[in-house]
Amino acid sequence: MDLTTAGTDIARVIVTGEEINARLQELARQVESDYEGRDLLIIGILKGAVMTMADFSRALNRHIEMDWMAVSSYGSGTKSSGVVRILKDLDRDITGRHVLIVEDIVDTGLTLAWLKSNLESRGTQSVEILTMLRKPEAAKVDVDVKYVGFDIPKEFVIGYGLDFNEKYRNLDFIGVLAEHVYQ
Ligand code: PRP
Repeated sequence: MDLTTAGTDIARVIVTGEEINARLQELARQVESDYEGRDLLIIGILKGAVMTMADFSRALNRHIEMDWMAVSSYGSGTKSSGVVRILKDLDRDITGRHVLIVEDIVDTGLTLAWLKSNLESRGTQSVEILTMLRKPEAAKVDVDVKYVGFDIPKEFVIGYGLDFNEKYRNLDFIGVLAEHVYQ
């Protein structure tokens, strides 16, 4: 869905579809070079990372394997508690593999810090993170993110996989949700 159709639900655009595609091409060249001569498994974290996985994987000019995980913050209803529950685990053993986690956003960093150490504990050779967005001002924990699309301010963003009540994931850009939608 484009900005014209989404209309007044969007307060402002943060990253356009063109900017996303251009950045994904740059990240793909970087990843191709960093992993040259090595097998690579990219792992998308459902559901937000679906768009980034689809476009990033197609930007890569090399063979890769793909797998998916679904995780959820445990307990209190407020996300980002740091305690993570696996809703869908990987299909295959990842012992000895070079793994690249693909995410839509690193917010507090708690989910990714947990995921990275969880995958490292499975005997992987390396685990790195690629995220489309990162909110540096929201960080609660230091997580080493090797590939970042865009650093953005601490605002509620939607689109390109990111939702509000499961809506807006199919926007072809990333924007700030207008206040009237959630007030
Ligand atoms: C988002 C995102 C990360 C996590 C980041 O997922 O995809 O997994 O939150 O937040 P953190 O850095 O504060 O831990 P979400 O729980 O919204 O699920 P979804 O991808 O299914 O929308």
